[in-house]
Amino acid sequence: MPEDLVIPRHVAIIMDGNGRWAKERGLPRTEGHRRGAESVQAAVESCGDLGIEFLTLYAFSTENWKRPKSEVDSLMKMLERFLKQKTPDMVKKNVRLQAIGRLHDLPQSCQDQLHKSIEATSGNTGLTLIFALSYGSREEIIDGIKSLIDSVEKGHLDKGMIDAEVFSKHLYTRYYPDPDLLIRTSGEMRLSNFLLWQLSYTEFYITQTLWPDFRREQLVEALRDFGRRQRRFGGVA
Ligand code: FPP
Repeated sequence: MPEDLVIPRHVAIIMDGNGRWAKERGLPRTEGHRRGAESVQAAVESCGDLGIEFLTLYAFSTENWKRPKSEVDSLMKMLERFLKQKTPDMVKKNVRLQAIGRLHDLPQSCQDQLHKSIEATSGNTGLTLIFALSYGSREEIIDGIKSLIDSVEKGHLDKGMIDAEVFSKHLYTRYYPDPDLLIRTSGEMRLSNFLLWQLSYTEFYITQTLWPDFRREQLVEALRDFGRRQRRFGGVA
């Protein structure tokens, strides 16, 4: 480890700026995504090395389906190829892959590869890498409410017992702790429908760096900044 960094348990990242990175260089947007996939690989390696337990990456939002079909197709192919190529490496590096979102919206071949990769890495005990795919937080909350109603109707849950902790157990993220640190690249100050419920007490770090340029050095800078924060969770220091 480069210095005495405070290591958060769970880091979540909104990977933004692939398109701008490409535009600045007169390249097609897909070239930005291709380089962005290299940053994904770098983030996974760095988080694993630093002893971070959970890394959630916003890889494809429910809103991203509105992009031109050619861009969506290329992102899906890239995801499938990434999973296929990197799974042996994840197995070797003790990374456990998970996914959240409306995964049934993904092309079938992509779903198949995703489930193969999840299965292949399921016994790993190092970094848990969570891809948010066809993910939207409002959709997750709606799905959570439906699941709660279902439990009440089936008599598994008493309405009076519902509190924040119980509700959290009906979200896609029920197996993971809430993120301690949220990083957003490329300078936008928005949540873009990402983990609205789970980010209630999370520290935010916004960097101007575009995602394709975000590597270990930028991650370490975010962790340094995180180490300077005083987290009070609504109480007093
Ligand atoms: C935002 O850039 C990025 C995304 C659409 C999601 C992240 C996708 C990748 C990192 C590509 C590969 C992913 C995997 C998991 C292999 P943008 O296109 O919104 O950038 P812009 O705002 O500058 O247009």
